[in-house]
Amino acid sequence: MEVIHEVSALRTWNRENTLRRRALVPTMGALHRGHTSLLDIARKEVGEEGQVVATIFVNPTQFGPNEDLAAYPRTLESDLEKCNTHGADLVFVPDSRSIYEKDASIEIHELSLSQGLCGASRPGHFTGVCTVVAKLFNLTQADVAVFGEKDFQQLAIIRRMVRDLDFPIEIVAGPTVREKDGLALSSRNTYLSEEDRSSAPVIRKALREAGNARTFGEASQIARNLIETVNSAKIDYLEIVDPVSLKPVDPESGGTARIIAAVYFGKTRLIDNRQIDTSLS
Ligand code: PAJ
Repeated sequence: MEVIHEVSALRTWNRENTLRRRALVPTMGALHRGHTSLLDIARKEVGEEGQVVATIFVNPTQFGPNEDLAAYPRTLESDLEKCNTHGADLVFVPDSRSIYEKDASIEIHELSLSQGLCGASRPGHFTGVCTVVAKLFNLTQADVAVFGEKDFQQLAIIRRMVRDLDFPIEIVAGPTVREKDGLALSSRNTYLSEEDRSSAPVIRKALREAGNARTFGEASQIARNLIETVNSAKIDYLEIVDPVSLKPVDPESGGTARIIAAVYFGKTRLIDNRQIDTSLS
């Protein structure tokens, strides 16, 4: 496995490896089984003959001024070990200066899917994500890129960006990897107090129970009620949306949609989502 820090070295590596199908897994490091599952999917996508490229870059432009950029866990040595164990051929670990020019003046704004949900709570977040992901697509010249369903809104926005800007890349989704008690793996889980850690699986439980409802309106009420049984949990949003447009569904209707939530435990904000199928369809 090679580790490259410089854009110029990556360009050379690209030139030397033009003929093999290449899969990209972009990450911000602090890798866990969620990330490594994406590396395994990437390998399946390109086969033994292909190349798997991971990127590790804590992208400053997707963090708001009061968010956890400085505190974001940085565990490069163990990240590289995990990439190696999961068969990455290359890990690109740029520093911020080699990615962003001081006077950079172009960014990518998504104008529809990014308006609600996490986009409403984190202004500018998805502009940062789209811009860096577009750059990583260009830099790595990958044929396919794998993203986790855990960040469902991000996945939908990246698919839209690829469609609307004609990136020659295929987007593959990886299922959410969870702890035994159902909590979706996230590097932010390490910020939770012991008590909040033991309460946090309520999010997944609530999203599941919601599926027992008749309509979407009943479903979101069931999920809200369950989360609100935990004193320290504060719902940032809980919505049932169309999986492609991310627009809220009619609460009187039912059928198949996506239930998606962000919940604060203290200062830590956790997100999760799943498909919902209500009995009215
Ligand atoms: P990061 O949070 O490090 O996540 C990298 C990838 O891992 C994303 O595609 C995310 O959806 C996926 N992932 C995280 N937790 C997961 C889990 N429990 N199960 C399955 N997949 C999981 O998302 C980002 O970084 C950044 O926004 C990035 C795309 C790298 C752009 O900076």
